[in-house]
Amino acid sequence: MRIVIAGGHGKIALLLERLLAGRGDQAVGLIRNPAHVTDVHQAGAEAVVCDLEAASAGEVAVLLSGADAVVFAAGAGPGSGAPRKDSVDRAAAVLMADAAERAGVRRFVQISSMGAGQPPRSGSDEIWAAYIAAKTAAEADLRDRDLDWTILRPGGLTDAPAAGTIRLAPPPVPAGTVPRADVAAVIAALLDEPGTRHQTLELTGGDTPVVAAVHSIS
Ligand SMILES: NC(=O)c1ccc[n+]([C@@H]2O[C@H](COP(=O)([O-])OP(=O)(O)OC[C@H]3O[C@@H](n4cnc5c(N)ncnc54)[C@H](OP(=O)(O)O)[C@@H]3O)[C@@H](O)[C@H]2O)c1
Repeated sequence: MRIVIAGGHGKIALLLERLLAGRGDQAVGLIRNPAHVTDVHQAGAEAVVCDLEAASAGEVAVLLSGADAVVFAAGAGPGSGAPRKDSVDRAAAVLMADAAERAGVRRFVQISSMGAGQPPRSGSDEIWAAYIAAKTAAEADLRDRDLDWTILRPGGLTDAPAAGTIRLAPPPVPAGTVPRADVAAVIAALLDEPGTRHQTLELTGGDTPVVAAVHSIS
């Protein structure tokens, strides 16, 4: 499979690229900083420079030509303000979905976040509220499209080594954390399971091996 990953230099994206390359898939990382090309190559993926806050859907659609799947793994990241939550976590996700439709790439896995889909907890700060609003809007946009989408909402991300076991289910899943390495493994497994399309899934650490967890909800 040829899989295009938006936010190709992100922590989850680099882990996913290694997994995909290791099993013989062709991963393509879309990055905005040319200095990140080497890291993406070292993860076993092709790198394409594309700023998702500047590109048009038509330009991105050209990059998606011939792809089998798209993974949205970009994010404005810690330290960013409310405007970039909107321009990346919402608008760049919408751009990728729009481009996927134009390019005829049906399979689309979107990394969202636990907390999306409901109002932010009372007392939440303004940035968190903007982040949750952006993720919620990106999810709603994707659900309305004629794509084979899966929305994945991880809990708090850690850089711990992969546990290999998770809890994956439609909401609500109790709050928790999950290693980015396990998130990457779940995405790789979701790409293999078209039966997970049109599902919104929450993900934390748990007791079920990744492939079994993905298989059980497909
Ligand atoms: N942190 C958490 O606890 C948590 C929990 C649940 C879900 N999530 C979500 O999980 C996803 C991935 O997390 P992560 O830790 O792997 O993220 P990350 O390491 O922050 O990676 C995000 C990537 O998006 C890229 N990006 C930002 N703006 C871009 C643009 N305009 N064009 C192209 N790429 C752009 C960044 O590139 P640069 O390096 O150039 O900035 C970065 O490489 C995000 O969507 C995040 O919201 C996070």
